[in-house]
Amino acid sequence: MNETIQKNLNYKKYVVDSKLQYFKPHASKIEKTFAEEISSSLNNDSKFITPKFFYDKKGSDLFEKICTLPEYYPTRTEIEILKNLQADLPSFIDESFRLVELGSGASVKTRLILDVFTKIQQSTEYFPIDISEILTESSEQLLRDYDSLHITGIIDTYEGGLEFLKNYDEKKNLILFLGSSFGNFSPVDGKNFLQKINSTMKSDDLFLIGLDLVKDSKVLESAYDDSQGITAQFNLNVLSRINDELDADFDLNNFSHHSIYNEEDQRIEMYLKSLVNQSVIISKSNLSLNLEKNELIHTEHSHKYTLDQIRTLLTSTGFKINHIWLDDNSFFSLTLASKN
Ligand code: TRP
Repeated sequence: MNETIQKNLNYKKYVVDSKLQYFKPHASKIEKTFAEEISSSLNNDSKFITPKFFYDKKGSDLFEKICTLPEYYPTRTEIEILKNLQADLPSFIDESFRLVELGSGASVKTRLILDVFTKIQQSTEYFPIDISEILTESSEQLLRDYDSLHITGIIDTYEGGLEFLKNYDEKKNLILFLGSSFGNFSPVDGKNFLQKINSTMKSDDLFLIGLDLVKDSKVLESAYDDSQGITAQFNLNVLSRINDELDADFDLNNFSHHSIYNEEDQRIEMYLKSLVNQSVIISKSNLSLNLEKNELIHTEHSHKYTLDQIRTLLTSTGFKINHIWLDDNSFFSLTLASKN
């Protein structure tokens, strides 16, 4: 790989060929290690494990499986809505837009948008922003399938990637944030994040966000606790990861996957429940952890919204709404917004 240094920005540029380049932050940021984060999040009365640790190789594979489960409606429903949105999108974009995506993932959904861009544009620019270098693999696959595509990957946090974009150039951006990933933020963090996106956008930029909607709690609860137990495996996998990477001795048989819908806070709450009184050693975190029978370790929240709340959320963070697309059951939403 040919490396040049981008001036003014703290990023290193890697040019693979004329169609593919990456930017990665120069100085490795001072981040807490996995061992340190686990040490502080479990050494607490209310214990938690940060959801980003779900996604090691095994966890990412299990999540892909979750997305195809009959009970897990969000992925399938969002794809269905995107297929309908394809017909409407050309009236909002033109040759001068590039596609930016926060958390590019497996890129099935990205393709549905790229289909539209490549149809109406001579040449299409796609900027995936992802913390994981996995984006390099999916980018190469996309380039094989779309002749007129040029990819600039930004391997950084969402915040870092947005800051990068702000200083990059004058081209218009359509920023995608799919999969209801936004629902994993707390309401306060979510609002701050939307403000951050808004402040990155230029006056003609667009933002497309996928949000899961409030619905019957049975539908919600089975989406997060499927009959084949894949979601349970996914949740428990984080303990195996801690065993492997931090020299711990969690006995997975002593824990169960526990998820409930909290009607008042409109969110699925995911936990690992200790089935017995037990103590666990996490060597690399220097922690001896005592858990009581039925004690919960929190792993994730997934917030659900009403359409009114989506409108309020976006307008209160500086957006105006251009269009909202729904599926026939109103299970999921895609909202296109621009800067107010
Ligand atoms: N972002 C996904 C969601 O909220 C994450 C998810 C789906 C998840 N199923 C899970 C996280 C089970 C933990 C456990 O829909």
